[in-house]
Amino acid sequence: MPVHPSFAGIEACVFDAYGTLFDVHSAVAQCRGRFPDPETQADRTSEMWRMKQLQYTWLRGLQNRHADFWQVTGDALDFCLDSVLGNPGPAGLRDALMDSYLTLHAYPEVLGVLQKLRSRGLKTAILSNGSPMMLEKVCETSGVGALMDAVLSVEEVGVYKPHPSVYQLAVDRLGVHANRISFQSSNAWDATAASAFGFKVAWCNRFDQARERLPGAPDAELRTLDELPPLLGD
Ligand code: LAC
Repeated sequence: MPVHPSFAGIEACVFDAYGTLFDVHSAVAQCRGRFPDPETQADRTSEMWRMKQLQYTWLRGLQNRHADFWQVTGDALDFCLDSVLGNPGPAGLRDALMDSYLTLHAYPEVLGVLQKLRSRGLKTAILSNGSPMMLEKVCETSGVGALMDAVLSVEEVGVYKPHPSVYQLAVDRLGVHANRISFQSSNAWDATAASAFGFKVAWCNRFDQARERLPGAPDAELRTLDELPPLLGD
């Protein structure tokens, strides 16, 4: 396929982690049977956990009170268990859910796509809110780490996405100009902000989300990452 005009000259592919490479709902899925009433509580907890986790990143940013993603993820989980179960839940549930966050499953196409991109000489990297410990563990258990040139955490800049200094970190660490970086995120707000920063952006719209009404606009919309190599001229 001919290269998509917006993606001509791409040198590096930078990926969001949670929701894009790794299925955040696989944490609750791994612990489903431990909920008192899995039918009514498990999916609700998972959806709320993700949303609350992101809200806490943005709220802490506005308050200028940064805490790393492990703490934010745990605080968000405590809120959700309290909301959905009305209490912290059965003994061991919280810790099991937190542990599961370190062994999230990669989406099925991820390893194959990364191998394909690397075989074509493209650099690959993660740019994520995740703390270095969280990213190291999930990259190791999934096998994704071996296929990355760099795993970059917002902890290096001490502020969460979508602050521009996060996106700048990828430019600085990879030594590649922003308009030669293809950034992939399933989070519409992240994809939009990365575009406003100056990356070329492929929005992996796994969840059939509506387009954000925020500055920036993705250059392409994918359903899975399988559609990325053709965009780059496969
Ligand atoms: C990340 C979140 C936004 O990995 O999914 O940065």
